[in-house]
Amino acid sequence: MKKKIFITVSLTLFVGMFLFSFSVIPSDNAGQFKYVGVAKCSPCHKSDASGKQLDIWQNSKHSNAWKTLETPEADKIAKDKGFSSKASETPACIKCHVLGKDLDPAEFTETFDKTQGVQCETCHGAGSEYKAMSIMKDKAKAVENGLVVGAGDALCKGCHNSESPTFKEFKYDEMWAKIKHPKGS
Ligand code: HEC
Ligand code: HEC
Ligand code: HEC
Ligand code: HEC
Repeated sequence: MKKKIFITVSLTLFVGMFLFSFSVIPSDNAGQFKYVGVAKCSPCHKSDASGKQLDIWQNSKHSNAWKTLETPEADKIAKDKGFSSKASETPACIKCHVLGKDLDPAEFTETFDKTQGVQCETCHGAGSEYKAMSIMKDKAKAVENGLVVGAGDALCKGCHNSESPTFKEFKYDEMWAKIKHPKGS
């Protein structure tokens, strides 16, 4: 009899935990959309007509954010922070120098290249489902399929904050002016 109660209680706890774990999964479709990498965006976003977003990004520091972690300067910062691994192998550094969050292998296709640093999809969301022309040309559809636009200041401050070992004050207007990449005409 005692054993039966025990089993019932454990089962209830188990089912309870199972349901709880479902209720805490974020509802932002994580996992459904995968990161495909800059090479998958560039064909349509490099011409004069499109506004040369590729060139502008390549010439910005964001495209170099991973390479920065491979420098002796970065290793020194990691060491001073108490990490025993190289900066480019330290998750607490990598997270902001690529996506602004941990790299979960389940969220990538094989074309994604983390060495491209802070890239298009870091700011515009994982592109596997919106990158098709039929969806991209319809903004509402693209947003439904994972495109992120209009996040602005809050988006930047996800990384440009005092958790960054080299943080200086973040002034949105000045910083945006350095990386803005409007549509062509
Ligand atoms: C097959 C071509 C194609 C590919 C690939 C593509 N795009 Fe686009 N994208 C477009 C077109 C066309 C538009 C609409 C341009 C317009 O409205 O003038 C657009 C618009 C956008 C916009 C602006 C949305 C708005 O109106 O505010 C963003 C941001 C964007 N793309 C990001 C990306 C990213 C990031 C990738 C890679 C994951 C990507 N695109 C891949 C063709 C493409
Ligand atoms: C650091 C973040 C960041 C990165 C990296 C980035 N973008 Fe953007 N992008 C923005 C923001 C912010 C806007 C302004 C619209 C908005 O608020 O989303 C924007 C706007 C755009 C627009 C629409 C422009 C318009 O005039 O409406 C396109 C197209 C675009 N980005 C494509 C790209 C592509 C392609 C890449 C990679 C080559 C890229 N972006 C990289 C943050 C970023
Ligand atoms: C995923 C994290 C992340 C996000 C989101 C992000 N950045 Fe950055 N940003 C970085 C990193 C990392 C660097 C430093 C790269 C390097 O020096 O190698 C950087 C560098 C820059 C620089 C160059 C700074 C300089 O001194 O010239 C500018 C400008 C910039 N970011 C603007 C923005 C703006 C504007 C936004 C929001 C629209 C934004 N960033 C969003 C991580 C991010
Ligand atoms: C919260 C996000 C974040 C984290 C975590 C982070 N960085 Fe950065 N890193 C940035 C941003 C944003 C910049 C651009 C300059 C700034 O505002 O700090 C940057 C710039 C740098 C630079 C260029 C220095 C400069 O003055 O331009 C180096 C080197 C660097 N980071 C190394 C590291 C190392 C090593 C770690 C881990 C110990 C790390 N970062 C963790 C966001 C971050």
